[in-house]
Amino acid sequence: MAEQLNEYAGKATMEKITSLAKRRGFVFQSSEIYGGQNGAWDYGPLGIELKNRIAAAWWKEMTQLHDDIVGLDAAILMHPRTWEASGHVENFTDPLVDCKKCKMRFRADQIPEENLAAKKCPECGGELTDTRKFNLMFKTHIGPAEDTASIIYLRPETAQGIYVNYKNIIQSNRMKIPFGIAQIGKAFRNEIVTKNFIFRTCEFEQMEMQYFVKGGTDEEWFNEWRRRRWAYYEKLGVKMDHLRWHQHGPGELAHYAKDAYDIEYLFPMGWRELEGVHNRTDYDLRRHTEYSGKDMQYIDQDNNSERYIPYIIETSAGLTRNVLMILCDAYDEEQVADKGNDDDWRTVLRFHPSLAPVTVAVLPLMKKDGLAELAQDIRRELKEDFATDYDQAGAIGRRYRRQDEAGTPFCVTVDYQSKEDGTVTLRFRDSMEQIRVPKAELTSRLRQEIKEYKRTK
Ligand code: GAP
Repeated sequence: MAEQLNEYAGKATMEKITSLAKRRGFVFQSSEIYGGQNGAWDYGPLGIELKNRIAAAWWKEMTQLHDDIVGLDAAILMHPRTWEASGHVENFTDPLVDCKKCKMRFRADQIPEENLAAKKCPECGGELTDTRKFNLMFKTHIGPAEDTASIIYLRPETAQGIYVNYKNIIQSNRMKIPFGIAQIGKAFRNEIVTKNFIFRTCEFEQMEMQYFVKGGTDEEWFNEWRRRRWAYYEKLGVKMDHLRWHQHGPGELAHYAKDAYDIEYLFPMGWRELEGVHNRTDYDLRRHTEYSGKDMQYIDQDNNSERYIPYIIETSAGLTRNVLMILCDAYDEEQVADKGNDDDWRTVLRFHPSLAPVTVAVLPLMKKDGLAELAQDIRRELKEDFATDYDQAGAIGRRYRRQDEAGTPFCVTVDYQSKEDGTVTLRFRDSMEQIRVPKAELTSRLRQEIKEYKRTK
């Protein structure tokens, strides 16, 4: 306990988050038995549930709650001309320097200016190479011949799959501008520096929505989407004092953007980008017109068949980065004296119940006297409506702690009284309060608790 009473007591650090994630099966290092693969992570049983729920919350927000947005799942492998048109072959680069002595590789914009000017390695003092452009796209070959004709890229953003399909979707779904297309999927970037756990990785997932508008209305829609994306995180129950806006300066703007704002989150390592809202103008569709030779104009049937290339407002969030944000946001340690010992600490993930990997855990007080069977019956019933867990191993206090650490918002305990009067104990993760509830009312009570949940700590 003593080491917990140091300056980090009660606070989230990346070390604690990473270690909890591994210990509880949220995230494992990829190919760990071979020493790990840089920039790649595997999502374990709790991690995949959390990731799926974050994705589902975003999908519901973007599609179900917006009549003018439809979904898409485009292929990762796209025609290589796509990436010439999008500007990624030419512009999607980081400045790179290598140390000739220790062979370390750095992003030139992330080492001290004096080192760059003196060409001196910040690690070993050795000589640095000249700065060169390094393209972040993973290049591979398709088919049996490994020649230039067979080069193909792993997509570095999901957006382009939407642009090349925008006419298909207008035709098949009779969409009228303004309208949006949402997509969740993998993206790949050969990042030079991958650190901070799953924050920046080579393989990751994005949740992107491209909103097609008429030029001239783009700034209005840009502001509207900024407002909506901010409200989304508020609804998700994220600590709002941990979020802020950052507008891109002229040097930061991506090659396609006229204006861009990041929503930044205060991670344990500081303020970092969580999501970007971009005004991409008509850049992408113009370029695809030019490179494909296909007409990408929208024909406004309601306005004398007026033709124009739409502007695009993009909201682009990292799904895997959202997983990290939600883990950090939920992480808490508190000193509790519920066992008469005021040195007793608990680690608790205060997930919103709609995001928690397990919604309700059913725990028999004892394995014997029919309590385990009764608890399993109750679990079977709850399973139809909620993600459940069952645990009969060890002292009840320790079992509660295990569920707290996994972020399970509700525990149902079955005891001797349950056999007599059909009631169970419902324990709340955040307050640790316990109440008795007739087991027949559990489902409706849990539904109500989830709906009315407000984070208090
Ligand atoms: N389509 C626009 C686009 O891709 P971006 O700012 O490069 O814009 C959008 O990326 C979001 O994708 C970021 O805000 C971040 O959440 C996530 N992201 C980008 N690169 C990432 C990486 N290497 N690892 C994890 N997430 C990443």
